[in-house]
Amino acid sequence: MGLNYYQIKKNILKSRKLVIKATSNAGSGHPGGSFSMAEILGCLFNKYLRFDPTNPKWEDRDRLVLSKGHAAPGLFSNMATVGYFPVSELETLRKFGSKLQGHPDLKCPGVEFCGGSLGTGLSYSVGIALAGKIDSKDYRVYTVIGDGESDEGQIWEAAMTAAKYKIDNLIAFLDRNFIQQDSYTERIMPLDKQLDGDDFSEMWKDASRWKTGDKWRSFGWNVIEINGHKIEQIDAAIRKAHATKGVPTMIISRTVKGKSVEHMEDNPKWHGLAPDTDVVPIINAELNSQFMIAPSIIAGDMTNLQNEIKRCVSARSDYIHLDVMDGQFVSNKTFDHTKIKELRSLTVIPFDTHLMINEPVKHVRDYIDAGSDIITVHAEVTNESDFGEIHDILKQNQIGVGFAINPDTELPEWSYKFLTSLDQLIVMSVVPGKSGQKYIEETHAKMARLNPILKEHNFSGYIEADGGVNLENIGSIFADGARVFVGGGAIVGQENMFAAIRSFRNESLKSRRHLLLDKAQELGGPDLVNKWIGLHIVGEKQEQIKKIAKEAGYI
Ligand code: DX5
Ligand code: ZN
Repeated sequence: MGLNYYQIKKNILKSRKLVIKATSNAGSGHPGGSFSMAEILGCLFNKYLRFDPTNPKWEDRDRLVLSKGHAAPGLFSNMATVGYFPVSELETLRKFGSKLQGHPDLKCPGVEFCGGSLGTGLSYSVGIALAGKIDSKDYRVYTVIGDGESDEGQIWEAAMTAAKYKIDNLIAFLDRNFIQQDSYTERIMPLDKQLDGDDFSEMWKDASRWKTGDKWRSFGWNVIEINGHKIEQIDAAIRKAHATKGVPTMIISRTVKGKSVEHMEDNPKWHGLAPDTDVVPIINAELNSQFMIAPSIIAGDMTNLQNEIKRCVSARSDYIHLDVMDGQFVSNKTFDHTKIKELRSLTVIPFDTHLMINEPVKHVRDYIDAGSDIITVHAEVTNESDFGEIHDILKQNQIGVGFAINPDTELPEWSYKFLTSLDQLIVMSVVPGKSGQKYIEETHAKMARLNPILKEHNFSGYIEADGGVNLENIGSIFADGARVFVGGGAIVGQENMFAAIRSFRNESLKSRRHLLLDKAQELGGPDLVNKWIGLHIVGEKQEQIKKIAKEAGYI
């Protein structure tokens, strides 16, 4: 079974928007901690939890215990997304008489635990997991605890108990966002190491100083440490936990409080504060414009692709772009599915397979079996019936569906009906065949022609820019609407791939900030622009955004 990457990602986005809508409407609530655990809950609700929204008390259901109950908006938005109640009901959040209160309550069908009194959810989970074992049930208990609530002694009592009784049907996540109600955890009650001085960035500089994993290990738990915002890492950790017998699992998830909204990120203020209604459309625009970097390994050493994959892993790429060329559709030949299969075991980073081959319909199954997460085929070698077949096979296998057009190919009319369920559209900005070519400037105009068609046909996937993307043009390509950026020469071809990816991200971020300032200006003129800038109080963001606003003549 595939990663189901896009489906999970789309529902996470939907849930984040609902959190914003609901808390802003209520005028209070906890968006920060809802966002730090958004990917964790997204993976659970959309892939792993066994539940039936029409029968919330089904005996064999898996149990999700939100011990850090203040993040209730994050739980409720997921429950609405998967059908426990209509999304419109989130408008009643924190209203008198509503079943959706500031903290989860059993009067909301589907809620397993009244979180809110911090520190107690893990003990409760130990109890119901043990009960499942005694009753020979095969349900699992998934529990999310916070790092702030880890100050409570009861967490550690529960930790000892779970190990003593070998409760291996319990999988806990520590949402390690380093922030609790009033400040940074390492100031208030360090889980890792006391933080002195004012330089908060110290906390994130060196991962080896994080010792929380050792604490849990010493309590006899199976410990897995991940980046809690990477779907593929959460997915792999859950699979590993399922395979571990005789001990409970703690998945320590390094997260960012307020993740995905720049002014909320790493800012303790957003632990328990709702956004004002006038900034909500700007926040939604920000949530809609997340971006990914996809290094193309053919720009590296073709005789040692293993090493290129390893470089992508250490450089923290979002995808790995795999250019399959068959010597027919394009004159070069690179590698086929056998190579991809060989590389698959090296990483869990999504494989973004770009098939530049003839008759892809005949080969697509091989590329699914090889372990691709996203498969893109070209318009020039498919027709409505072939693509329909490919589309269905990919969806059935929970693989992302991609469609690509060459520089002189317009989007064929027969493809319009697929746009609504397409996950990725590659707009080639070089003639396919090799890396290291120059970006074709006409692509900007092509994107302007494409955008209204995509909108009209409800395209909700990502546009991937492929060919000649570099630090000079990535900003304008972002402004055109692309959200995934392939980098051959400009990333894999660079000695320091980590720095190259970081620069790609910084340039995309600049372009996104510009887009958000445009939105603020359009909706509320300089007042809203200034208000938006003023929200960015952590680090150097404010100065950087102010500079963009000045250059645009908004302030
Ligand atoms: C071209 C490939 C691209 C290419 C990108 O046929 O699809 O992915 O390798 O390399 P650069 O970024 O160097 O153009
Ligand atoms: Zn490509």
